[in-house]
Amino acid sequence: RKFNVAVAGATGAVGTQMVQCLEERNFPVELLRPLASERSLGKSVSFHGQEIPVEVLNENSFVGIDIALFSAGGSVSLKYGPIAAASGAVVVDNSSAFRMEPDIPLVVPEVNPDDIALYKNRGIIANPNCSTIQMVVALKPIHDAARLKRVVVSTYQAVSGTGQKAVTELAAQVRALLSGQEAEAKVYPYRIAFNVFPHIDVFLENGFTKEEMKMVNETKKIMGDDSIRVCATTARVPVFYGHSEAVNIETERKISPDDVRALLAQAPGVKVVDDPANRLYPMPLDAAGQDLTLVGRIRQDTSVENGIVLWIVADNIRKGAATNAVQIAEILAEKYL
Ligand code: A2P
Repeated sequence: RKFNVAVAGATGAVGTQMVQCLEERNFPVELLRPLASERSLGKSVSFHGQEIPVEVLNENSFVGIDIALFSAGGSVSLKYGPIAAASGAVVVDNSSAFRMEPDIPLVVPEVNPDDIALYKNRGIIANPNCSTIQMVVALKPIHDAARLKRVVVSTYQAVSGTGQKAVTELAAQVRALLSGQEAEAKVYPYRIAFNVFPHIDVFLENGFTKEEMKMVNETKKIMGDDSIRVCATTARVPVFYGHSEAVNIETERKISPDDVRALLAQAPGVKVVDDPANRLYPMPLDAAGQDLTLVGRIRQDTSVENGIVLWIVADNIRKGAATNAVQIAEILAEKYL
C-alpha cells in the first residue's frame, strides 16, 4: 500500500530534508503534498525527479492525507496538528508543542518504537528535540545494561537547528567579517560567527533554558524512566550542520569503557568512532549528511563511583529531526496503517 503524505514546512531546513529522506528511503508515497506559508507561493520541491508545487497551508490541506509530517514551528503545529488529525491523518510533529503531553507518544525508533501505538490517542506522535534524540540513541543500550542514575551533558549545537535563516546568517556574517565589514545579527541576539553562546531557546525561571529542560524531560519520557537525573547546558556554536555533546554518565552497575564500546558497536543507529591514537573521534564534519549517531572518546570518569564519559555527534537535521520523523512514518506504514 502507498500513502498520501503531507509535509508542513516543506521549504524549511527540516522540511526540505524530510522530503529528501522520503525519497532516499523509498517511502511508499502515492501523493506528496508540500505545504508552507504564502511566502513560498510559486516555489516547488523536487521529489523523485518531479517538481511538485508548494501549497499554502490551510484547514483543508490534510483532506485525503494519511501521514502529515510537521516542521513549521510550534504555533503552526498547535493550530494545524489537531486539524490534520481530525482529517484522518497521523501527524508526526517535529515541534516541541506536544512532546510532553502525557497521552502523546514521544518516539525515537531505536529506543521506544512500541510507543508509536499510542498515536491512536490523539492522532499525533511527537518527534523529540534534536539534542535529545542523539543522546538517547547512544545512552539506551547503556541504560539497559547498567542503569543510568545521572547524566550531565554539555552541547555544541549547529545553527541549522534554528532553521534555514540561521544557516544564511552565519554564512553572511563570516563573509562580511572576512571582507572587513560589520556582521549583522538578526536571528540571534549576538553574532554567532567566531562566537559561542550558552543560550538556546528562552530562559526559564529556574535559570535553565527551555532547550536544556527539553533534554531533561524528554530523556525521561523516551527512556520511560523518571528516575534518571539529567543536567544540561546547551550552547550554540558556529557550525552549520551537526550537534556535538560531551556526556558524563553515572550508572548503578559498574561498566567499563570496553563494555560500553562493545555495547554500542551492536547498537542500532550507532557507529563507534573511537581510536584517539589515530585521531579518530566523532566530528560534525563526518556526522553531517548521514544518519548514524557517532560515539567516541569513551573513557572512565574517575571523579565518581561508576562514571563514563562520551562524545556524541549526529546530523541534527537528519537523525535529529527529518530522518527520525520518517523512521516513525515507516513503522506506522508497516505496522499500523
Ligand atoms: P516559508 O518558507 O513559506 O516561510 P525553517 O525552520 O527553516 O525556518 O523553516 C520553517 C518552515 O515552516 C518553512 O517551510 C516555512 O515556510 C514554514 N512556515 C513557517 N510559518 C508558517 C505558517 N504560518 N504557515 C505555513 N508554513 C509556515
